[in-house]
Amino acid sequence: MIRIAPLPAGGAAECEAILRSLPEWFGQEGAIRDWRGDLPFLETCAALEDGRIVGFVCLKDLQPRLAEIHVIAVRREWHRRGVGRALVEHAERACLARDITALEVKTLGPGEPDEAYAGTRAFYAAMGFEPVEETTRIWGQANPCLILRKRLRRAGED
Ligand SMILES: CC(C)(COP(=O)(O)OP(=O)(O)OC[C@H]1O[C@@H](n2cnc3c(N)ncnc32)[C@H](O)[C@@H]1OP(=O)(O)O)[C@@H](O)C(=O)NCCC(=O)NCCS
Repeated sequence: MIRIAPLPAGGAAECEAILRSLPEWFGQEGAIRDWRGDLPFLETCAALEDGRIVGFVCLKDLQPRLAEIHVIAVRREWHRRGVGRALVEHAERACLARDITALEVKTLGPGEPDEAYAGTRAFYAAMGFEPVEETTRIWGQANPCLILRKRLRRAGED
């Protein structure tokens, strides 16, 4: 049984281990260190099974009504078991509770064929995120960045 809760004290090390176990997605040492450093200071939630972190999502405010998924990762053995969906749905509720009405995410765009990130893009599409633009301005020519966005709605809203 999975429950979603704020990142437990000391949980950043476990999250770093998850990132390191997924090198197809998280291969850059500097980026891993930056994310690990950010986690305790941003809004980070963990998916926990018997106290063990099986996935996490970290949110960063971009504008007063717009936040982004700064990083999300689920342990490989837990992929396709609903943990990512539970984390995103939790993040959306947390955003709406703070009057944030849109959620953005940046990921590797389809301009760079990569099987791992094709799965990531399929996940975001299934979560209702829509492409805004693919640009090489952010991560350079070798890593086209796809910006996706989702408008968040409260129950009963159009
Ligand atoms: C992306 C990630 C967070 C998704 O978490 P998850 O727990 O595996 O996702 P879920 O099981 O909640 O999937 C929800 C839906 O998304 C879609 N989906 C998820 N992964 C998919 C894949 N690899 N291929 C196609 N569709 C996928 C499916 O529609 C799925 O529903 P279904 O299993 O009922 O068909 C996880 O795979 C992960 O950690 N990937 C590596 C890190 C990563 O990509 N982080 C984001 C970097 S920008």
